[in-house]
Amino acid sequence: MSDLFRPNWSALPETYWTEIFGDDRPVAVEIGPGLGEFLEFVAKHQPDWNFFAVERSRARAATVRRRIDAARLTNARVLSAPAECVLAILRDSSVDRFYIQFPDPWWKRRHKRRRLMTPQLATQLCRVLRPGGAIEFITDVEEYYDVGRAALRSERRLIEISTDPELQTATSFARKAIKRGWKLHAATYRKLAVD
Ligand SMILES: C[S@@+](CC[C@H](N)C(=O)[O-])C[C@H]1O[C@@H](n2cnc3c(N)ncnc32)[C@H](O)[C@@H]1O
Repeated sequence: MSDLFRPNWSALPETYWTEIFGDDRPVAVEIGPGLGEFLEFVAKHQPDWNFFAVERSRARAATVRRRIDAARLTNARVLSAPAECVLAILRDSSVDRFYIQFPDPWWKRRHKRRRLMTPQLATQLCRVLRPGGAIEFITDVEEYYDVGRAALRSERRLIEISTDPELQTATSFARKAIKRGWKLHAATYRKLAVD
């Protein structure tokens, strides 16, 4: 694993989720929440979970924060940062679920440099995911779906399971894609408890 992905400095203390949320509920991390529609939806419908969103765009993160405040959600937080950097400092087996939904509108070859779903990211997701936890990946771009799936499948502790259809339509991008008649591609992976 490259130093960029796993820098040689201490990870966060073991208690970081408790310090952030003030309780010990399971934690789901959403990468790239955009305007935060999905975050609001799941945080409202699953009050026994905590939701932590990581959004690279500062302006969008600010919108998500306003949405969290307006809906008075005590179980949701947003951080403005590149997900790769945040993942690098999260502890092994410390997250119960990841959501990655329509991560890259710039999936074309010329944008390859900026792609979120890479083999390095899949390795980090698998490391940080708790055994028994799941990663949900959705995109409307078939070619990108294949790239993301190949990266996730190459992690031997991840197995593909069925995807919850309700969660697939809860984001603004999902609704836009459905309206335009585009097919959605979704895959969910569970981390095996043993090697
Ligand atoms: C196409 S939007 C989709 C937003 C939302 N998930 C939805 O389905 O409506 C992709 C979002 O992912 C964010 N994003 C892309 N790469 C990221 C990264 N490396 N770290 C954090 N956020 C990222 C973008 O800033 C953008 O807000």
